[in-house]
Amino acid sequence: MGERTILLVEDEVYIRESVSEMLEMNGYRVTTAPTGEAGIETARKKDFDVILTDLKLPGASGIDVIRAVKAVSPNTACIILTGYGSIETTIEAMKAGAFTYLQKPLVKDHLLVTLEKAYEVCEVYSLKAENSKLKKEITNCTEAILGTSSEIQEVRDVIGKIADTDSTVLILGESGTGKELVARALHYGSTRNNKPFVPINCAAIPEDLLESELFGYEKGAFTGAIATKIGRFEAAHEGTVFLDEIGDMSPGLQVKILRVLQEKEFERVGGRSSIKVDVRVVAATNQDLERAVEEKKFRNDLYYRLNVIPIHLPPLRERKEDVALLVSHFIDKIALRKKKTVKGINPEALKMLERYDWPGNIRELENLVERLVVLKEPDTFVSVKDLPDKIRKGSLETSGISAVSFSAEGLDFNAAVDNFEKDLILSALNKVNGVKKKAAEILNLNRTTLIEKMKRKGLLDHLDPSESANEIA
Ligand SMILES: Nc1ncnc2c1ncn2[C@@H]1O[C@H](COP(=O)(O)OP(=O)(O)OP(=O)(O)O)[C@@H](O)[C@H]1O
Ligand SMILES: [Mg+2]
Repeated sequence: MGERTILLVEDEVYIRESVSEMLEMNGYRVTTAPTGEAGIETARKKDFDVILTDLKLPGASGIDVIRAVKAVSPNTACIILTGYGSIETTIEAMKAGAFTYLQKPLVKDHLLVTLEKAYEVCEVYSLKAENSKLKKEITNCTEAILGTSSEIQEVRDVIGKIADTDSTVLILGESGTGKELVARALHYGSTRNNKPFVPINCAAIPEDLLESELFGYEKGAFTGAIATKIGRFEAAHEGTVFLDEIGDMSPGLQVKILRVLQEKEFERVGGRSSIKVDVRVVAATNQDLERAVEEKKFRNDLYYRLNVIPIHLPPLRERKEDVALLVSHFIDKIALRKKKTVKGINPEALKMLERYDWPGNIRELENLVERLVVLKEPDTFVSVKDLPDKIRKGSLETSGISAVSFSAEGLDFNAAVDNFEKDLILSALNKVNGVKKKAAEILNLNRTTLIEKMKRKGLLDHLDPSESANEIA
């Protein structure tokens, strides 16, 4: 748990000092301001979890403070301190975004309990903010899942059919195949989309913290639990919980998750009463869960609960026809982000990317494109010489005669010869860093013949002018 920060805006010295001291003694980190203006100034410079502000202040009022704070930091919980008889202005403060109000004289316990509540709300606020930010980024998630291969089309179809149901979905796929993207598409394609999408990486949270992260804890449940905290399941109420890397969950926790799935209820750590939640669960793993079940590492009953609707994401090497689309999408996206102009990729280089096996799947492709875009001189095409050795070697290994397969129907001779020629040309280009003049030399062809062949094979649609200038020289 991080430091809990509070800004106290109060003009009366005595109240300011005594309240601040009492809060410090209760573990809060308090900054004070004697006027509304000073409060606004301080809140602009630094984010606070909670702001306690007096309503009546000389100059800028407590309401002005709340408005100013909410404008720059909407997640801050604001509590207004009022004298009595000012019900109308209190209502106004609530409308300006105050979380609640407290009447003076302040009662210590009442203030502390209110602060605890404010912290619970704070957490929910920040989750909500995270979600609305993400929502803006991903307007239509299913469309964000790119690919024309039949495998990806099928994935999109399934998402369309099941997004707006409450069925539990298990997303299976190697790392980097788009599991989280699919989980988000399921959430944002459902009527839960204005409620939180709460991802939980079961492998990243230390085992002893996982339970309190998921289910929250009651004040005093353990040393350091100075206030009640809600867990991720509670924060996801009416939304979606995404259990990522579910294959890495400890056996103890598997039992607890199973119970939430079956009964839709749980207890906070140290709590006695059950809490009911309405959440849709989407889980993902890159492990072979069936095998984990056989090996008794993963509970059978939990597996069946989760595996109501499985979605298999194919590795990129099994849908290489999508490589071209993904590459051009990432080039545009990253060029825009990095404010660079890259014209695209030339066909020889693209061919090599299509040949490569992509063990890290789309994430690896995205990272590579990012590197290429960053390192590229502006206004040029990505070409073979820009590609890392790993990709050039990888693509070389899968080329050549050994890749020819004779199926039951026999092969298409002309297409096979054509492919072989393409492979030869690409291998030669690969060897000489993409310089066509040198490739022609090692193939013992005329440079013009080579270029003719490349044109015919569609390897030369976008001849990079800077590159051809180099070659002629
Ligand atoms: N079909 C796709 N179209 C466009 N972008 C995609 C596609 N699939 C994945 N991506 C992008 O690739 C990256 C990796 O995807 P994501 O994080 O969803 O994969 P993952 O399967 O959860 O990976 P890991 O197992 O490593 O957590 C993300 O930036 C995602 O946006
Ligand atoms: Mg992931």
